[in-house]
Amino acid sequence: MSEATANSDVFQTPLQKIWGEIEDHGLESYIAELDAYGYTVIPPRLATPGGLCERLLDAVLDVAEGRNGVRPDLETGSTHKGFKGRFQALAGDNGDSPIGDLMQSLLFEGRVFEEALMNPVLLTMASYLCGYSVVLSSMGCFMKGPNVSTFALHSDTPLPSPLPPHALVCNLTYVLTEFNRENGSTAFVPGSHKWCRSPEGAETKVGDGGNPKAVAVECPPGSLLCWHGNTWHGAFNRTAPGLRVSIPVYMARPYIRTQEGLVGQIPDEMLERNPARFAILAQQGIAYGYKNQDDSVARGLRAYKYTKAYMDGEAALTPGSQSLYS
Ligand SMILES: [Fe+2]
Repeated sequence: MSEATANSDVFQTPLQKIWGEIEDHGLESYIAELDAYGYTVIPPRLATPGGLCERLLDAVLDVAEGRNGVRPDLETGSTHKGFKGRFQALAGDNGDSPIGDLMQSLLFEGRVFEEALMNPVLLTMASYLCGYSVVLSSMGCFMKGPNVSTFALHSDTPLPSPLPPHALVCNLTYVLTEFNRENGSTAFVPGSHKWCRSPEGAETKVGDGGNPKAVAVECPPGSLLCWHGNTWHGAFNRTAPGLRVSIPVYMARPYIRTQEGLVGQIPDEMLERNPARFAILAQQGIAYGYKNQDDSVARGLRAYKYTKAYMDGEAALTPGSQSLYS
């Protein structure tokens, strides 16, 4: 540990705290790559130890079978070939879904998804990009078989251009099956997070004749693909048999509108069996968005309760530290 963090028992700023976490998990080179290119791939040995990848894959296959009535065919992808689903209108007669099936709201589908959210490596990357008050915006699953439609380049920051240089949102995606171009992997434009705008027109096209700066990610199952919210990304279509399966954990600063509305939706037993930070991540520290006077009071009290529990826990760990909300 460096001198800056060695003195953390005396005084610790959020910057010193996050650097200590980065060092503890051996993530320095991935942070450097993230800053330079706008994205990085953390390998399975760091990202998903303890069989987390295999357990997540089993769990999403169960979810898919439960929701769609058919067990997905990982080997051939026949269950998802040319899938249109909710994208029927966008796909038209000759296209299909650029992302395959999208299964949302996974947090309520089993304990392994809580574990995925609390993964310390994922939280270190999210905290580095969006601060310790970062919240979960959504956790879903992309399950894509052979298809013809590419996914257009875009940024995940939910604002019109120009975008601020710091990350308002970030994406930490669990790669559950091998990613490469033939398998329809994510496409990135390296360095695009520094341009502070979303792509437009021809810049958005992926694939033959598309944006020449877009590159395919290649990584094994169990990797964690992390990117800054401003980074231009999309996806190649899948030409190989089989399924591309991933779980994007989309995170946001707490003042950004989230995809999932979790305030008041998390069962008490789920909050009680997890560390205090889980409640913050699950949006329970957010008081805004009330529907009436009574709801305002209830949301305010709930936000105070869970924020205080988290901050008290952090203060006990690092006496004299600055507020992580500063
Ligand atoms: Fe995206």
